[in-house]
Amino acid sequence: MPAGGLDLASNDYLGLSRERSVVQAAVRAARTHGAGAGASRVVTGTHPLLPALEADLARYTGRRAALVFSSGFTANQGLLGALGGRGALLVLDEHAHASLIDGARLSRAEVRTAAHGDLDAIEATLREHRDRNGPRARAAVVVESVYSVLGDAARLAEAARRCAEHGALLVVDEAHTLAAVPGGSAVRAAGLHGAGHVVVTATLSKALGAQGGVVLFGGLGAAAWRDHLLNTARTFLFDTALAPPAAGAARRALALADERRIGRLAANAELAHRLLAAHPVTAGRVERGDGAIHSLQMRSPAGAVRTAEALRAQGIAVGCFRPPSVPDGIARLRITVHADHGRRRLTRAVATVAQCIDREDP
Ligand SMILES: Cc1ncc(COP(=O)(O)O)c(C=O)c1O
Repeated sequence: MPAGGLDLASNDYLGLSRERSVVQAAVRAARTHGAGAGASRVVTGTHPLLPALEADLARYTGRRAALVFSSGFTANQGLLGALGGRGALLVLDEHAHASLIDGARLSRAEVRTAAHGDLDAIEATLREHRDRNGPRARAAVVVESVYSVLGDAARLAEAARRCAEHGALLVVDEAHTLAAVPGGSAVRAAGLHGAGHVVVTATLSKALGAQGGVVLFGGLGAAAWRDHLLNTARTFLFDTALAPPAAGAARRALALADERRIGRLAANAELAHRLLAAHPVTAGRVERGDGAIHSLQMRSPAGAVRTAEALRAQGIAVGCFRPPSVPDGIARLRITVHADHGRRRLTRAVATVAQCIDREDP
């Protein structure tokens, strides 16, 4: 972003990637522990910041055990690979992130996709799997707490209830909600942090403004699950550990990701939606997200690209998603608010967005 521009595109939800003490923590970590981890965690890569970060993350989310990976992508791949194998079933919501899809594909499990948000379809697949393979057949359902495609939330409590009924695990990717929703975690807000059959993954590269990924376990079996992952996840065993500066920055960011900052993010998300829903150009196009992301449907992929370029020329970055990387074939601009966006700048930016859409994608 040019200086003075407005970032409505990145996932730095709380504005922590450039926060002074977060940057200082990264520098301190590099000075003390080095710029890189130097090896996989099972060799010499487990520097002291990693167990400390895992303890911080478990405490923050109300979970019992955490295992940190080099990214959210590798956390998802490692987890699904470790849950798979012959005879297992993985059921993914069709809006699941590429890292979850790739992880499922590599897992050697049977992989099924359910229509977006369709818990009945998921349940039918679980039932059929058990009927076919017996009551002890392994299965996991994979959802995102807030989906990156439309910014809508999964019905976590209901999904967890149905999974428990069918003896399945529920994997929840909290990439877009860790440190970005009241209470710091959607799974915690749904009262599921103590549930042993709910496994959480998250990235440290969005609201925490750093880099890295984590898998979080709850319930009595949490430590055993962590051990299983530690011994079987290929992206844990065969990947260089998270670098010290990222770990140091994430720890400091966690300490700052409090209800005050998260509240400002929610207030800005509310304001942006109100403005977009009130403007004649955007009113019919806006899809309200449950988090900090609102999407605007565009008439054509070319119009979406032209609008995003016109906005960039005016110093406003927005996300631009178009076929083939959107599951439903509709091109969209994605507006992502941050906690540190001022009301006046946000109001002006929304007016500019509407003006550019009117001109480039009428
Ligand atoms: C839902 C979801 N899961 C996982 C990831 C991957 O996280 P990371 O960027 O840390 O690899 C992303 C990031 O784009 C995401 O949106």
